[in-house]
Amino acid sequence: MNNFEFKNPTKIIFGKDSIEKLSKEIPENAKVLLLYGGGSIKNNGIYKQVKTALENVTVIEFGGIPANPEYAVLMEALEVIKTENITYLLAVGGGSVIDGTKFLSAAALYEGHSPWNILTDNIRTEKGLPFGTVLTLPATGSEMNSGAVITRAETKEKLGMGGPGLFPEFSILDPQVITSIPERQLANGLTDAFTHVLEQYMTYPIGALLQDRFAESILQTLIEVAPRVLKDPTDYEAASNFMWSCTMALNGLIQKGVPTDWAVHAMGHELTALFGIDHARTLAVIAPSHYKYHFEAKKEKLAQYGERVWNITEGSTDDKAYAAIEKTEAFFHELGINTKLSEYTKDYEGTAETISQRFTERGWLGLGEHKNLTPDKVEKIVKMAY
Ligand code: NZQ
Ligand code: ZN
Repeated sequence: MNNFEFKNPTKIIFGKDSIEKLSKEIPENAKVLLLYGGGSIKNNGIYKQVKTALENVTVIEFGGIPANPEYAVLMEALEVIKTENITYLLAVGGGSVIDGTKFLSAAALYEGHSPWNILTDNIRTEKGLPFGTVLTLPATGSEMNSGAVITRAETKEKLGMGGPGLFPEFSILDPQVITSIPERQLANGLTDAFTHVLEQYMTYPIGALLQDRFAESILQTLIEVAPRVLKDPTDYEAASNFMWSCTMALNGLIQKGVPTDWAVHAMGHELTALFGIDHARTLAVIAPSHYKYHFEAKKEKLAQYGERVWNITEGSTDDKAYAAIEKTEAFFHELGINTKLSEYTKDYEGTAETISQRFTERGWLGLGEHKNLTPDKVEKIVKMAY
């Protein structure tokens, strides 16, 4: 096991009707900016619950943060933060609203020339404007981590940022919120969380027995609850297990002391930036090709995953590893998720070259757990995913 340090300061308030506990978490005398997305919270009752809980707090609102939070929209929110002297941010939404809020938390205290540089120059945020979240969509884990991904339509870019100052102070997780989520977004959430675990697991054995079993248990739980969540989002037991699995998949715990990959996300983000494909779906497009391309380097973990998660007991290590990739792809299909780029766009020719070129320009010359995924290999993997 590798050496590690672990600190996650986010307070989780989990369970039925937990949104009413919101008022206790916001500091007295705070001037709050309530941030939300396209308006789903107004139709499903979450907005009303939040407003009721914040009755005695000064609240200004900023709605309209789109999926894949857009820089230009966030810059409008930043203006509100500055002119209204906002002291606290409250994100009510899924990963997009929470990530947008993290960007604002960083940008509000950023003294450099343009906040976009936080993303392009990899500036880690040590201290941001404090914020909390009310999660409305289990998927990204953003509610309990310190990362964010921001999109800029103008340049078709999607870049990550983060730092120890960007953990939410608290996150409220009421699994009942999933009852209004469209099936497509539920499938996205399951796929995203599943792939988060794979990114932190599908590398090479390092004798981290507990981390492996943490990871496998999250995968098993997601597989078990997936059909129940899709069939009946009011099934509270399934909803609560789904929600907690998504949070645990990316709150830092399972990646401690083990090598991590994250190349599937790096390539996937480009597909969202270029074609607007939902984040989770880009992962389902890239992951099978990525694992096939890196079969030799990853086969031991692939086989272990096959055995322990998919109960593949027959055959050699190679057989089990290959069957595990097939099972993974079949799982995505069962969720209604296509796994080839050509199923999302007719315009896919040239994509692999474009992504490879972008990685070269950014100096991303060695991704993955071995830091040997060069842009030419990226090109091959993306082509395999056409
Ligand atoms: O805009 P609203 O009205 O809120 O509607 C949203 C949106 O249309 C809707 N929705 C959310 N909760 C709902 C609901 N509809 C009905 N009922 C509810 N309770 O769902 C749609 C998608 O929302 P979004 O927030 O975009 O989804 P998700 O949570 O999947 O977030 C995706 C974003 O997170 C980033 C992705 O790249 C993408 O930009 N990620 C963030 C990560 C992180 N911070 O750690 C890690 C991930 O790998 C990912 O990259
Ligand atoms: Zn993801």
